[in-house]
Amino acid sequence: MTKIGDITLSSPYLLAPLAGYTDIAFREMAREYGAGLTYTEMVSAKGLIYGNEKTEDLLRLSPLEVPSAVQIFGCEPDVMAKAISSIKADIIDINMGCPVRKIVSNGEGSALMKNPELAQRVVESCKKSAGSRPLSVKFRLGFDEEHINCVDFAKKMEEAGADAITLHGRTREQFYSGVSNWDKIKETAKAVSIPLFANGDITTVEDVKAFDDSCVSGFMIGRGAIGRPEIFSELQGLEIKVDKVEQILRHVERLREFLPAHVVVNDMKKHICCYMKGVRGIKELKNAVYNAKTLSELLQIVSNR
Ligand SMILES: Cc1cc2nc3c(=O)[nH]c(=O)nc-3n(C[C@H](O)[C@H](O)[C@H](O)COP(=O)(O)O)c2cc1C
Repeated sequence: MTKIGDITLSSPYLLAPLAGYTDIAFREMAREYGAGLTYTEMVSAKGLIYGNEKTEDLLRLSPLEVPSAVQIFGCEPDVMAKAISSIKADIIDINMGCPVRKIVSNGEGSALMKNPELAQRVVESCKKSAGSRPLSVKFRLGFDEEHINCVDFAKKMEEAGADAITLHGRTREQFYSGVSNWDKIKETAKAVSIPLFANGDITTVEDVKAFDDSCVSGFMIGRGAIGRPEIFSELQGLEIKVDKVEQILRHVERLREFLPAHVVVNDMKKHICCYMKGVRGIKELKNAVYNAKTLSELLQIVSNR
């Protein structure tokens, strides 16, 4: 049984927060295919406090997201705590792994791995604010090859009150290059007594098996789910036949429940190219998709496949 704090998850396979991809419709589809938890993409704690409209959109949760999880980023303990008090989700995740320069130069995201004492104060403060709701932290191996501190950092997060950890087996310096270091993930899982979710390059049942006999509690899937939400069923051993066009139409229809057509057109372009990855004539399809101006034009292109 997979748990975060007192909350039991229906499966150990979690959909990673993916800025620009894990919109509410995509998260619903991942849930229907069996994801045990889905997260909003990261939102700024400051943005939340100042009532930024885009942030509110990003935080919209679906009734299918039970339990629900929201990810926030920031580095000021008070600001983070205040932001959490306004969040309605069941589980709060703190991003300490984002490698993006703009975020890191503000001392946020993976920059916190260089400042474990501040990271601890952030978690302590967030924990108080979250009340009985579980708090998880997502981070990387370390800032760079010379500063791999995930084992010690994980212990510090546990000490500060984190209820779970997700570890992406790359350094900040690597961004998304190289391979995720699963051995380091296993070593870190052994060092803590809270659940640890393995992340990075996990896409098949064989990948999951590589963690057999380790202390890992579950798996977070990111890029492997883009264009393939059915991965959550496949990881549970189910054989799934998917009609890509139908899946795209389903995604569009759901997104339309929440967003106006002109926003959906732009959001769906990248998704469609991911759904259609590998099909014959993908180059021409991509061109047509990116040139589409209206939703009906976009749907026509997809339906003609
Ligand atoms: C396009 C993109 C957006 C991402 N956005 C976030 C984010 O908002 N929050 C976060 O913690 N990680 C984010 N990540 C990192 C992923 O959650 C995950 O840790 C990483 O992709 C490794 O897992 P994977 O190999 O399964 O993709 C993002 C990654 C990508 C490729």
